[in-house]
Amino acid sequence: METVLVTGGNGFLGSHLVTALMEQGDTVRILARRHGDQAARQGAETIWGDIRDPEAVGRAVAGVDRVIHTVSNFRHGGSDKGEAHSINVEGTRLVLEACELHGVKQLVHCSTIGVHGSVREIPATETTPYNPGDLYQQTKLEAEQEVWRFAEQAGFRTTVIRPISLIGPGDKRMLKLFRMIKQGKFVKIGPCQAFFQPAYIDDVVAGFLLCLGNEQAYGQVFIVGSDEYVPLEELFVIIAEELGVKPPSVRIPLQPVLLLAGLCEALCVPLGIEPPLHRRRVSFFQNNRAFDIAKVKNRLGYQPQVGLREALRRTIAWYEQEGWL
Ligand SMILES: NC(=O)c1ccc[n+]([C@@H]2O[C@H](COP(=O)([O-])OP(=O)(O)OC[C@H]3O[C@@H](n4cnc5c(N)ncnc54)[C@H](OP(=O)(O)O)[C@@H]3O)[C@@H](O)[C@H]2O)c1
Repeated sequence: METVLVTGGNGFLGSHLVTALMEQGDTVRILARRHGDQAARQGAETIWGDIRDPEAVGRAVAGVDRVIHTVSNFRHGGSDKGEAHSINVEGTRLVLEACELHGVKQLVHCSTIGVHGSVREIPATETTPYNPGDLYQQTKLEAEQEVWRFAEQAGFRTTVIRPISLIGPGDKRMLKLFRMIKQGKFVKIGPCQAFFQPAYIDDVVAGFLLCLGNEQAYGQVFIVGSDEYVPLEELFVIIAEELGVKPPSVRIPLQPVLLLAGLCEALCVPLGIEPPLHRRRVSFFQNNRAFDIAKVKNRLGYQPQVGLREALRRTIAWYEQEGWL
């Protein structure tokens, strides 16, 4: 068994990875920012620090066998260019440099299907052209390109995973959608014919684990997630059915909402306030996300276990258990 560092180990994906690694007997270290007097996670060594701090990153990487790099400013749709770049790109560069310095055996870098943006070719694959649609996706793409540049120069074992949109216990990003559908307040924006492909967290975690120490994964990029994608309109109906309520029926046009979101960002971002509405949130209604996971299945024997309806059902059960629905 090995020692694995999970950067962002207290995040949604990171914390599930930490649990799974500990379950398979690995020694786990986390790099995470501390909030207040937050306690360290039991069973794992925690290095408190920022991904932009070379000293903290060096301490976190020193002595581990493998690194899974999940840190990203994912949740902060209104963050400015400098912050997104420094966390997603420069932070990744620091991780790469530390991996080389300390002779790490493999880096598994967590990217996103967002590097493909809203896809036109359905289903998209790892070779579908890049088409990042916002600052987050652009900086994730730059980070991925930095990873490959570095790996080539340093002859370093690297795997890139582009997870599909994650759902499951621990996620709060989709909570608003479920809650508004349950309360009958959800308003559809635009035609809602874009595809969405929710991936259950345990399946994506299994994909990461399959890559560790696996020669078939070195130098490869994999889209990892579920098999099923549906138009948003259908997704909303399934969620409503699972919640036992009527599907949403009110719809408003897209363009005015986009204008309002742009205005919110223009007002809030310079003041350092997270905008209540931003274009990335609206893009949920616009972006086509439909991906083929044949490569990871064929090369690594990956097989998602949780279908779309079951993934939604389990996510609802967790929200209910937390008292949020
Ligand atoms: N969730 C999805 O649907 C999805 C889909 C595709 C790809 N991904 C990728 O999956 C990864 C994990 O995403 P997630 O959903 O688990 O998001 P998350 O819960 O926000 O996790 C990201 C983690 O990064 C940490 N972080 C952010 N900035 C940091 C900094 N400067 N220094 C140290 N830690 C920092 C966050 O800690 P703080 O609490 O301190 O901010 C958080 O723990 C990301 O790379 C994301 O791009 C996610």
